[in-house]
Amino acid sequence: MPEFISLTFPNASTEINPIPNASIDPEYLARYARNLDDYGYNYTLVPYDSSSYDPFTIGATILSVTKKLKVIIALRPNTLYPTVAAKALATLDQLSSGRVVVHFIAGGSDAEQAKEGDFLSKDERYGRLEDYIKILRRAWKSDEPFDWDSKYYQFKQFSNRVRPTNGPIPVSVGGSSDEAYRVGGSLADIFGLWGEPLKETKEQIDRIYAEAAKAGRPDSDRPRIWVTFRPIVAETEELAWAKAHRTLDVLTANRALGQGKAPPNAPAPQNVGSQRLLDIAARGEVQDRALWYPTVTATNARGASTALVGSHQTIVESLLDYVDLGADLISIRGYDNLNDAIDYGRFVLPKVRETLQERGNGASN
Ligand SMILES: Cc1cc2nc3c(=O)[nH]c(=O)nc-3n(C[C@H](O)[C@H](O)[C@H](O)COP(=O)(O)O)c2cc1C
Repeated sequence: MPEFISLTFPNASTEINPIPNASIDPEYLARYARNLDDYGYNYTLVPYDSSSYDPFTIGATILSVTKKLKVIIALRPNTLYPTVAAKALATLDQLSSGRVVVHFIAGGSDAEQAKEGDFLSKDERYGRLEDYIKILRRAWKSDEPFDWDSKYYQFKQFSNRVRPTNGPIPVSVGGSSDEAYRVGGSLADIFGLWGEPLKETKEQIDRIYAEAAKAGRPDSDRPRIWVTFRPIVAETEELAWAKAHRTLDVLTANRALGQGKAPPNAPAPQNVGSQRLLDIAARGEVQDRALWYPTVTATNARGASTALVGSHQTIVESLLDYVDLGADLISIRGYDNLNDAIDYGRFVLPKVRETLQERGNGASN
């Protein structure tokens, strides 16, 4: 059975209705999180950006107002010494009785990394990430003080008394470069991908599994696959497509006004994941059943940007295509954040689960 993920939003600002300089709205944050909990989402990703809020305090707030929902804390290794991160994550995990996952971002953009003092090359950033994951896992289970002496970290006799609730905290890695496949395939519990067509997604899954095998992991211990979409859904196909075009118009207009996620004259993205999305977008607007790419182009593929457009049933069937392909976790968020999360919770999540239950939890063939 796939698990569902949404993204956390600290206030009512959305990409289609931006509220410039909005600060955290604690009421909204709690309401959004409680809705995810009530409608059966399994996780919410608390994202990281050099200019944005601290994911640990946002995550703690969400965990304090929810019962089952887990938080996925996005973390860039350059921003926190690994022993500090190990304790911070384990602290949050204890406070929430084991509801914490960490999502690692090696860093896809040199300019973005430089904003917080990180001048390593991308390959080095992935090398550092590899070290970081190993240090965290050692800290989460080692009873004895230990030393570390590698290219990126050196310390002596670190001793940790803050253990996660249920063993090591699940580690997720996202990206689409060779280095992302290598580090995530060899070390991650979860591997995050953005929304690509079925064929390309399958190719990426095969690459990740091949790297896992190369690292000596048995098939039973391969990373779980996470795919990400931005569904635009309505009662009928016609209404959904009308809504999709309205959304695109607003995204385009907002970007021209400088209110988009990417500035109007943004350079081509450096991270491979975004480059791949833009290449696919250039091939045509719709891929497979309902995968829609104009939202990718309109936002310069800044973050997860591939839409799925259609009736509730079309979205359900599209998501089931990815489950059949091997997706274990499905991230869905729309453009009208809270209302879309509720819509999916009412009409999409239950139907996906019901269909799989009827099929006996397995794939279609
Ligand atoms: C599911 C998912 C979630 C991500 N969340 C973030 C995030 O919160 N902040 C961020 O800067 N990058 C995020 N990323 C981007 C990548 O982790 C990042 O760009 C990566 O280090 C480099 O990408 P590349 O290996 O494709 O070149 C996310 C990626 C995926 C697939």
